[in-house]
Amino acid sequence: MKSKLYIMFISLASIILVTSNSNAVIRKCIICHQKPEIKKVLPTGEVISVYVDKDILRHSVHRRLKCQDCHTDVTVIPHKGIKIGRVHCERCHYKGSPYPVPKPDHIYKKYWNSIHGKKRRAGDPHAPWCQDCHGGHNVLPPSNPKSLVYKKNVPATCGKCHKKAYKEYKDSVHGVALLKKGIMDVPSCTDCHGKHAVYSPGKPYSSVNPQKVPETCIKCHANKAIMKRFDVSVDTATTYEDSFHGIALKFGELKAANCSSCHGVHNIRAPSDPLSTVNKKNLPKTCGKCHPGANENFAKGKVHLDIHSKSAGMVYYLANFFIFLTAGTMTVLFIHIFLDLYRRVKEKREGL
Ligand code: HEC
Ligand code: HEC
Ligand code: HEC
Ligand code: HEC
Ligand code: HEC
Ligand code: HEC
Ligand code: HEC
Ligand code: HEC
Ligand code: HEC
Repeated sequence: MKSKLYIMFISLASIILVTSNSNAVIRKCIICHQKPEIKKVLPTGEVISVYVDKDILRHSVHRRLKCQDCHTDVTVIPHKGIKIGRVHCERCHYKGSPYPVPKPDHIYKKYWNSIHGKKRRAGDPHAPWCQDCHGGHNVLPPSNPKSLVYKKNVPATCGKCHKKAYKEYKDSVHGVALLKKGIMDVPSCTDCHGKHAVYSPGKPYSSVNPQKVPETCIKCHANKAIMKRFDVSVDTATTYEDSFHGIALKFGELKAANCSSCHGVHNIRAPSDPLSTVNKKNLPKTCGKCHPGANENFAKGKVHLDIHSKSAGMVYYLANFFIFLTAGTMTVLFIHIFLDLYRRVKEKREGL
């Protein structure tokens, strides 16, 4: 009993000692950095603030870290003359890290293989590092509405650099739903592009490569539970796959129309919206990108045609005609083969 109390006392004391020690170091840094007027003069003569709001850090996921856990270059105080580089978040966020980081499943590897990581490695100063998406001192879990990577905040975070995509997205059917109506079932940038494994559309393994686009849209657009809520047809998925374009794309004809070729990429709108690329009025222009001279007649009729439904009219009967024709031909062929075999066996038996 006595020894147990003793152990408890020792562990309590050491916890207090460790926390107060780290607080002491933080206080040392913060003595200077909490002064609102503290600043740095850049070689260009530009003046930037190096003020640190300790409340922001205290409310972040990293509240238990010390300043130097991230700013490893600062080994002495005062640190005048020491060159302080940018923070390497991947120092802790990897599988096998001694720090209790959540979901470390190779974020670090995914990031360095992405277009952003590759550009960064090649020395592009505009490519985002972890902190350019997550923030420096204000890092919060993605589920926190104040996090820069909370679903609703992602478009603005990516949009800092991708201004055109962001501008178009904001006014699209998906963007209006997410940003203005707070509907979470629509895609933000990362639902189409991925969060860490972002690639150029040109890469065959990118989720936005022409051949992968239908798969990316269909993830949601074939989901009956989601689409029913918004009164949007789920047939778009199957009807596309059965269409000339869908089949051609599957067979590697990258020039065939994928969902985005007709609907747009970041400017997707409901067909009834006059600004939609698939609005009746705009179809000749949209189809005309690839079918020169396409007029209203060419674009007439439904694009998302369900050939298995009688409402498809002529196409339904044509499709069925071909199914019967194929089945009929196959049956006749099999009967022919069977009769031929039968004749041969019979001839052999009769020793002819
Ligand atoms: C004696 C005051 C003082 C203390 C203590 C201090 N700093 Fe600083 N720090 C400054 C000043 C002044 C600057 C402005 C840059 C310069 O002129 O070197 C600065 C700049 C920085 C920068 C920005 C560097 C850059 O180039 O952008 C970081 C990061 C930093 N300090 C971290 C720390 C950390 C971490 C600690 C504690 C371990 C700390 N500082 C303690 C005064 C201080
Ligand atoms: C989770 C890691 C982390 C911790 C902990 C942390 N910082 Fe930072 N700090 C950053 C990042 C990231 C930046 C942005 C610059 C960069 O990309 O490296 C930054 C920037 C700064 C700057 C430059 C001015 C600015 O706001 O851009 C100062 C000064 C600074 N930190 C001081 C501190 C002090 C003092 C502490 C402790 C009280 C601290 N930091 C704790 C990650 C951290
Ligand atoms: C010294 C190690 C260390 C460094 C450096 C570090 N982190 Fe962390 N990070 C952690 C730990 C530990 C946690 C878990 C905190 C907790 O849950 O109490 C964490 C949690 C997170 C989370 C929350 C994840 C979730 O699902 O809740 C994010 C996001 C994150 N860190 C991003 C970053 C970014 C961005 C940087 C660079 C600015 C960074 N980290 C630097 C150790 C670190
Ligand atoms: C291009 C922007 C971007 C960059 C760069 C980036 N992240 Fe993220 N990260 C995100 C987004 C967006 C999410 C949240 C996705 C979601 O809703 O789950 C996220 C989620 C996370 C999480 C939470 C766990 C998870 O997988 O959801 C951690 C931890 C994290 N990032 C760490 C890092 C680290 C470490 C780096 C640098 C190696 C980094 N991130 C680089 C955008 C980025
Ligand atoms: C509904 C799915 C979807 C959403 C949501 C989406 N994108 Fe895209 N994005 C695509 C597709 C598909 C392409 C490929 C277009 C092509 O092949 O040219 C693309 C291409 C890009 C490109 C490269 C080509 C270009 O247009 O500059 C960037 C950058 C980009 N997206 C950023 C963003 C950002 C930032 C957001 C959020 C504001 C976003 N995307 C939201 C599907 C999406
Ligand atoms: C700090 C700026 C910055 C942020 C934040 C950022 N990016 Fe990028 N992104 C870049 C740069 C720089 C490139 C490389 C551009 C190039 O060379 O074509 C790039 C490339 C891309 C590409 C490939 C474009 C192409 O044409 O090959 C896509 C897609 C992309 N980013 C999507 C995103 C998404 C999604 C987010 C948010 C989760 C995001 N980016 C956040 C700067 C940023
Ligand atoms: C994360 C799920 C998700 C993804 C991925 C997605 N969408 Fe959507 N989309 C929705 C939801 C939900 C709506 C209904 C929004 C509303 O009505 O407010 C919608 C609406 C639409 C509409 C308007 C329908 C109408 O009649 O109002 C079109 C067109 C559309 N999406 C096309 C696409 C295309 C093309 C892609 C791929 C490039 C795509 N979507 C990717 C969820 C998604
Ligand atoms: C060849 C052009 C073209 C292609 C390719 C295409 N669409 Fe459409 N889409 C249209 C047109 C035109 C409409 C307007 C209604 C109609 O004619 O059926 C439409 C309508 C829609 C609607 C609205 C349905 C509703 O109930 O309001 C959605 C959602 C949609 N498409 C999603 C997709 C998805 C997902 C893909 C890829 C799997 C795709 N589209 C491929 C041209 C196309
Ligand atoms: C991104 C380019 C692209 C767009 C946009 C596009 N198509 Fe196509 N389409 C193709 C290609 C490629 C083929 C296959 C041509 C071939 O091999 O004969 C094709 C084939 C067709 C065919 C069957 C073959 C034929 O030439 O009669 C029809 C019908 C058709 N498209 C209608 C449309 C309609 C209607 C639209 C607009 C709603 C449209 N397409 C938009 C690329 C496109």
